[in-house]
Amino acid sequence: METQTPEFKELLLRQLPDKVNANMFRTKRKVQAEHSELTEANNWHLVKGGLNSSKSESVNPPSAALAILFNPVTLEWIKALPPNVPLQKDQDKRIKNEVMIIRASLEISGLSKLQNHVKELENLFLDGHPVFGFLTPHFGPSLDALLYQVDNGSYNVTEKQLTAEISGYIYNQAFEHACQLCLKYGFWVQDPNPGNVIISYENGMFNDALLIDFASGRQIAPTFVGQKYQEPEARKARFVRLFKEELCPLFNREATKHSIPLIDSSNQTLCNYVEKFLPIN
Ligand SMILES: Nc1ncnc2c1ncn2[C@@H]1O[C@H](COP(=O)(O)OP(=O)(O)O)[C@@H](O)[C@H]1O
Ligand SMILES: [Mg+2]
Repeated sequence: METQTPEFKELLLRQLPDKVNANMFRTKRKVQAEHSELTEANNWHLVKGGLNSSKSESVNPPSAALAILFNPVTLEWIKALPPNVPLQKDQDKRIKNEVMIIRASLEISGLSKLQNHVKELENLFLDGHPVFGFLTPHFGPSLDALLYQVDNGSYNVTEKQLTAEISGYIYNQAFEHACQLCLKYGFWVQDPNPGNVIISYENGMFNDALLIDFASGRQIAPTFVGQKYQEPEARKARFVRLFKEELCPLFNREATKHSIPLIDSSNQTLCNYVEKFLPIN
């Protein structure tokens, strides 16, 4: 698919953030964010999650929702654990793992040069509360933001068709990247909802799909841990099962839910991905 046609660009350009509206999120409230890596403490908007974690979240930290902040001036995002989630229960690993997997994801999407812009923020202060989080630059519009306009009724017939084409193309690419993350790095994509698929944007060009959001339970354990997966044959057998029983159903469930064309789950594709992405020791 030709991704740089004027119509394609025009549609996607509409998804770029204006003031405090990025990827369809709106400000819940403004927050002061202090850390030596941040250029300024102001202009941070809490757009998702909260900073006042409830008692139940403290008791069950693996499911504690992370706070999402966006800065429309610097075009950066912060994702952080709420203040009273106890870090001693390996919670900081959620952040550390997410940073590690996002860097791998950037490499897969041909955006390695952005890896150093993804930064762990230890001793970050949000409204004076010490938290642990990480910083990312704005990578581009999410597939969710693109699809939202369809539900919203703001596209005409041609734009709807174009959106279906773009979403099928991008989602299939995201699926290929999830297979690559699994085969090459042993990382697992637990939640391929369209909010976690970004259409990366750089210097006036829309590029590859980019997978984000790796803070949920399953990603923490790499898929191929353990001696028995050292051999390529064992990795291959495990991947074949994961592809058929988990990854394809996971992606196609989301595709169906959001009226995105289904991903290519043929045996031929499976063979191609294994051949292309399984590292030969
Ligand atoms: N670096 C980024 N570039 C573009 N959008 C982002 C970025 N980081 C977060 N977002 C937006 O914020 C949303 C929430 O972030 P995400 O990491 O998916 O957290 P959650 O666990 O709350 O889903 C994403 O769906 C995406 O729209
Ligand atoms: Mg998400």
